[in-house]
Amino acid sequence: MNAHSLPPRSAALAPVIAIVGATGAVGIELIRVLEARQTPLSRLRLLASPRSAGRTLPFRGAEIEVEVLTEDSFAGCDIVFFSAGASISRNYAPLAVQAGAVVIDNSSAFRMDPTVPLIVPEANATALVPHAGIIANPNCVAAIATVALAPLHACWSIRRLSIVTYQSASGAGAAAMEELRAGTAAHLAGAPFTPQVLPHPYAFNIFSHNADVDPETGYNGEELKVVAETRRILNLPRLPIGITCVRVPVLRAHSMAISVRFEDHVTPDLVRARLASAPGVRLVDDRAANHFPMPSEATGTDDVLVGRIRTDLADPSGRTIAMFVAGDQLLKGAALNAVQIAEALGLGVAA
Ligand code: A2P
Repeated sequence: MNAHSLPPRSAALAPVIAIVGATGAVGIELIRVLEARQTPLSRLRLLASPRSAGRTLPFRGAEIEVEVLTEDSFAGCDIVFFSAGASISRNYAPLAVQAGAVVIDNSSAFRMDPTVPLIVPEANATALVPHAGIIANPNCVAAIATVALAPLHACWSIRRLSIVTYQSASGAGAAAMEELRAGTAAHLAGAPFTPQVLPHPYAFNIFSHNADVDPETGYNGEELKVVAETRRILNLPRLPIGITCVRVPVLRAHSMAISVRFEDHVTPDLVRARLASAPGVRLVDDRAANHFPMPSEATGTDDVLVGRIRTDLADPSGRTIAMFVAGDQLLKGAALNAVQIAEALGLGVAA
C-alpha cells in the first residue's frame, strides 16, 4: 500500500464505486466510461438529488436504482466520483474521505488546494502523489488543452500561451444541452423561445462564456479557471496566458485555437512529429483536404484532436506555433479523465 494505491479493503475485492451526480451529463458519461473500459468493480452506486429518487439507470445489462445523496451514503465505498457541482463536493467529499474512500472530484471545489493533486494523466500523472484522499479533475478546457501542450512543453519549454475557446453546451450540464436542442427546434419553427439555463439565445448564436465576469479585469470565471489550472497542470506557475472563452451552439465537444510560444525556434513539422506519438492525441492535419479538428469528429472520441499546426505569423521570431484543438468535453474534459485518474491510482490494474 502506498499513496498510489486504493484503500486496503480493495486488495481482495474489486472496489465499490459511487457516482455523486449520476443523473447529470457527466454522471451518465461516467457510467458509460466505466462500462466501456470494463472497469473492475464489485458494486456501482448511483447518487443524486431527491428529484431522481427511484429512477434507474442502465449498467452492464442491469438497471441500477438511483439513491438520494445523504451524509451516510459513503459507507463501504472505495472510490467516489463527484460531479454535482462545487458546493456538493465541498460539503460531501470530506465525508466520503472520512468513510475511507478516495474521491475524484469533477468540480472546481478543490482544484487550487495545494494538498489536492490536479491531474491529467497524460500530462502530470507523477503529481498524483502525495494525496490526502481527494484528487481533482480539471476544468474541461484545461484538461483538453494540456493533453496537447504537455508533450510540447517537455520538448521545447512553453513560454507563453494564447487560447480562444469555442465551448459546447455540455459544460453547463444536461439542462443546457436540452436548452440548445429545444431552442434550435423553436428557432427553426419560428416559435418564440426564452432561455432558462443560459443567459442568451443559444441557437444560431455565440456569446461570451456564461461564468460571472470580474468587473475589475473583465475576465470571466471560466477564463480565470483555465489560466490557473493550466499553469498548475504544466507546473508553470507564472506562465503568461491570454484567454477568451466563448460558448458556441455545439452539444458536447469543446474546440480551441491555441498559440504557443516556445523558448526557441520550433518548426510545425517538429511539433507535428511530437504530437503524432503523444498519448491521448490524434493528429487531424490534412491541409490538402482542408480537414482539421472539428467538434463533430471529437464527439464520442477519447482522443484530443490536434491540427492546423503552423507558424504563428504574429511572432516573426519563429518561436510561436498556432494550432486548433477539439476534444469531447464530457469524455477527456470530464468523465474519461476522472476514470483515467482512478486507473492511475491502481483501479483496473491486475493485482
Ligand atoms: P438530479 O438529476 O437529481 O438533479 P448536470 O451537471 O448535468 O446539471 O447534473 C448535475 C447532477 O448533480 C445531477 O445528477 C443532479 O441530480 C446532481 N445534483 C444536483 N443537486 C444535488 C443535490 N443537492 N444532491 C445530490 N445531487 C445533486
